[in-house]
Amino acid sequence: MKIVEVGPRDGLQNETARIPTEVKIAYIDALSGTGVGEIEASAFVSPRWVPQLDDAAAVFAGIARRKGIVYSALVPNERGLARAVEARVDKVALFTAVSETFNRKNINTSLAGSLKRFAPVVAGAHRERLPVRGYVSTAFWCAFEGRIAPEAVLRVVDGLMDMGVDEVSISDTIGKAAPDEVRRLLELLLPRLPAARIAMHFHDTYGRGVANVLAAWSCGIGTFDASAGGLGGCPYAPGASGNVATEDVVAALDERGAEVGVDLEKLSRASGLLAPYLVDTRRSMPDADAHAC
Ligand code: HMG
Ligand code: MG
Repeated sequence: MKIVEVGPRDGLQNETARIPTEVKIAYIDALSGTGVGEIEASAFVSPRWVPQLDDAAAVFAGIARRKGIVYSALVPNERGLARAVEARVDKVALFTAVSETFNRKNINTSLAGSLKRFAPVVAGAHRERLPVRGYVSTAFWCAFEGRIAPEAVLRVVDGLMDMGVDEVSISDTIGKAAPDEVRRLLELLLPRLPAARIAMHFHDTYGRGVANVLAAWSCGIGTFDASAGGLGGCPYAPGASGNVATEDVVAALDERGAEVGVDLEKLSRASGLLAPYLVDTRRSMPDADAHAC
């Protein structure tokens, strides 16, 4: 069982307040002691697109690397890979989406264009002996295109695998998936790809993040992305709220006897370091009225 803590990247990319670099570093260092296996520490994307993470190199230079923890980062292109290698990342995470509209808005290219862009990045990362994750965004729903067909997700996964990606992270970008949809997709995916190469990445917009984690876990998945305190969201996915909270995932899996090995007290202390800097950025969902209370 592995938790990939994505708060420092998915969480902070969506914050309106400027978080000082030294606070990010303290936050990541505190997360390193909680028992999570991997921390997505920042993103080497264009600072024009995501200014919140324009200090990725300084963050990587400042953290105290704890043995056994994998410190990864998002990389969108070869330029990002060069920056990531220089910063001594342990793992590279590429990202594309099933939805063409979301890809245009998020990475300014088509799905085919993104795969073409990734091929030299995967080869370059492997030359550096860095493992590569491939995010498959909008794997269930898209804010612009609605429901996504599972068969289309499989085609994207195949494209990433053909290129040599080591792991995929199947992502519910706008947090709208339901447990049945998760099970259905995994029933199709698991015969093609072992569970050890699949991570699940749930956002919690509709409050189904934990139920979705448990559905995936019951199918044999053991790697879950989550963010301490439920921070997160994508600036290019309107209505999407934070990732499923690491605390909730750990508590739910612990209760069911899974050996997660994450210390909730330490996690809460790590989240607490950010609290003074966070602005409440919750935006209304496309059909938020149905959920208002
Ligand atoms: P573009 O504008 O088409 O590309 O962006 P460009 O090559 O014309 O570059 C624009 C500017 O950025 C240029 O600078 C480049 O040099 C620079 P200028 O000449 O204008 O001064 N640039 C870079 N700078 C630093 N590092 C780089 C880099 N690349 C270009 N790597 C691009 C294309 C892909 C770069 C852009 O669209 C981008 O960076 N997008 C990232 C958006 C993003 O980070 N979104 C959030 C993460 S995805 C997510 O949250 C989903 C996920 O959580 C899973 C899920 O929940 O679904 C992963
Ligand atoms: Mg995300």
